[in-house]
Amino acid sequence: MEAVPHGRAPGMRCGPGDDNTVLQLLNVESAYGPIKAIRGVSLKVRQGEIATVLGSNGAGKTTILKTISGIIDPRKGSIEFEGRSITAQDPAHIVQQGLSHVPEGREVFPLLSVRDNLLMGAYTRSDRDGVARDMETVYAYFPILRERATQHAGLLSGGQQQMLAISRAIMAAPRLILLDEPSLGLSPKLTREIFEIVVRINRERGTTILLVEQNANMALNASDYGYVLENGRIVMEDTCERLREKEDIKEFYLGLKDEGVRGERRWKKKTWR
Ligand SMILES: Nc1ncnc2c1ncn2[C@@H]1O[C@H](COP(=O)(O)OP(=O)(O)OP(=O)(O)O)[C@@H](O)[C@H]1O
Ligand SMILES: [Mg+2]
Repeated sequence: MEAVPHGRAPGMRCGPGDDNTVLQLLNVESAYGPIKAIRGVSLKVRQGEIATVLGSNGAGKTTILKTISGIIDPRKGSIEFEGRSITAQDPAHIVQQGLSHVPEGREVFPLLSVRDNLLMGAYTRSDRDGVARDMETVYAYFPILRERATQHAGLLSGGQQQMLAISRAIMAAPRLILLDEPSLGLSPKLTREIFEIVVRINRERGTTILLVEQNANMALNASDYGYVLENGRIVMEDTCERLREKEDIKEFYLGLKDEGVRGERRWKKKTWR
């Protein structure tokens, strides 16, 4: 059973209509040459919540995150972070605004030590005491990173690299983290461990998180509010509590039946490279 303890106090849950939006996408469209990957995506992430975008292989999840963090410029639409436009801005500038992106497939620097990878995450910061404190915090979340601090990051396992990628994002002291499929290629046990820490980072540091996942079970258990993305469009949104109860989500995304509503299973098995 894949489940993370949730236990968020009801008062902390952010409902739709609250005026505490930190990230807002309006009608965002992004393409790779002639291929439209996302088609008019609108979504909100509220202060202090974990929001999730669920979608199967190729739905456009990674494209949404790359468009937010400035790696891809949208063809249409607008993106606001904390009330200011970040549409099509330079990725380095967006990180400096307080928004960090943990990319799909981790992308750690393999020939740098674990410690230097972490320091790379903090390169825009000048508060040395804060950096040292956050280094201790990530070592407390992931003690294995302290043990491996001087080793090349390329020698870490896939799960440890995921821990490092999340930790590197924390080192920038962001107010919002974009997290792209942390479960990719990991065992259920490791996935569970990583999700537990993601929830702790959200609760203990107050960091708002936008998580994209194919693993709907883990994502819906860890998150407050969810969007379902199909073929580049949002087709459903609700609190995760309610999404977990919806029949088509149960059948199609939570794997409670062998066959989804469309009579096929679209899960893709991806492996860590
Ligand atoms: N570099 C690229 N060049 C051309 N097409 C691309 C590129 N990257 C993604 N696409 C296409 O854009 C669409 C959305 O891809 P995206 O990677 O955003 O999906 P995803 O939901 O993240 O999928 P996955 O679960 O496999 O990570 C897909 O049709 C994909 O084939
Ligand atoms: Mg992806």
